[in-house]
Amino acid sequence: MTYVTKIYMPDKEKFKSYIDGIYSSGWLTNNGPLVQELEKRLEEYLGVKNLLCISSGTDALQFAYRLLESDGKEVITTPFSFVSTTSAIVAERLIPVFADIDKETYNIDPKNIEQNININTVAIAPCHVFGNACDIDEIDNIAKKHNLKVIYDASHAFDVKYKGKHILNYGDMSIISFHATKMFHTIEGAAIVIKDNDLYKKAKVVRNYGIDAPDSVAMLGVNAKINELEAAMGLCMLEEEDTIYRERKESHEYYTKRLKDYVKLQKINPNSQQSYSYFPILFRDESEMSRVREALLKEDIAARQYFKPSLDTLPYVKCSDIMENSRDIASRILVIPMHSGVEPIVSKIIIKTLTEIRDEESCVA
Ligand SMILES: Cc1ncc(COP(=O)(O)O)c(C=O)c1O
Repeated sequence: MTYVTKIYMPDKEKFKSYIDGIYSSGWLTNNGPLVQELEKRLEEYLGVKNLLCISSGTDALQFAYRLLESDGKEVITTPFSFVSTTSAIVAERLIPVFADIDKETYNIDPKNIEQNININTVAIAPCHVFGNACDIDEIDNIAKKHNLKVIYDASHAFDVKYKGKHILNYGDMSIISFHATKMFHTIEGAAIVIKDNDLYKKAKVVRNYGIDAPDSVAMLGVNAKINELEAAMGLCMLEEEDTIYRERKESHEYYTKRLKDYVKLQKINPNSQQSYSYFPILFRDESEMSRVREALLKEDIAARQYFKPSLDTLPYVKCSDIMENSRDIASRILVIPMHSGVEPIVSKIIIKTLTEIRDEESCVA
């Protein structure tokens, strides 16, 4: 079976040499030398400061909300993302309030944010969906006007800059998942970038159980560390990022060229650039999407309906307004596998199936 994502395995010998080093030092975890090196190298590579590695993207989101210290308050967020974007808010005892997305960019529509702000609102939590930069300037204006924090979920945007700066530079806090399926990974893992220096210092203590010095617990903390093996994987991946980027770009361009006249592609923020992390395609309706998905499955190709369900339908959230745009996009989107070799067959099946469907429709008409 071919899946949407294929885990990238960096050079085995390089990884082994890190493992040898770990065996000699005997240092497996607790902010070891490889974690420190990875954090430094990531800051340099991405052009960011105050970056902390965290155990997973979900943990990084929860960590950000914990730092907000705003139990019971409201966070305005997108209904169209991976489930963690919402579940982290609920898990940290805050209330998610949804603002519907734009149907072309799939990102939270700033026009829908302001009407949801009230005295209980503490933050806006958008996601750069499929690496497409949100309308950062407009979100920033709204946040400043109402004195709110902005927490970005940039999990899909390792390869994205906004106005020339890496996208993790934006927002009060920004998180990115380094899960094994991502363009850059540490097996499990993530990072958080924190704008405010004092909050960053506090975050380091929170990440370490709240321990600020030997025999001293300064505050309530968590264990959100990554270990030396994960850091070693990250260091190996960083060395091969240029290759990973080039291969994904080639695949993305192959699909774009062949599919752009048949399906709708995501509208990319003009202040940013195309991310090559995913290839989402939008069909005219759910029935087209289902027929294409079935045709692909017959060839053992598993495309995914990312992101379904629309998060306003989660069983643990209360949402009185229906997020129509998000539900509509969720019902007719497919993310197709993007890795060397599979593209010709996938695009051929999609074009063949759509041609058949549309021929049938024109016969009936
Ligand atoms: C947008 C988004 N946010 C958060 C996460 C959660 O990351 P993790 O799997 O590292 O917990 C994911 C995971 O794929 C994601 O796609």
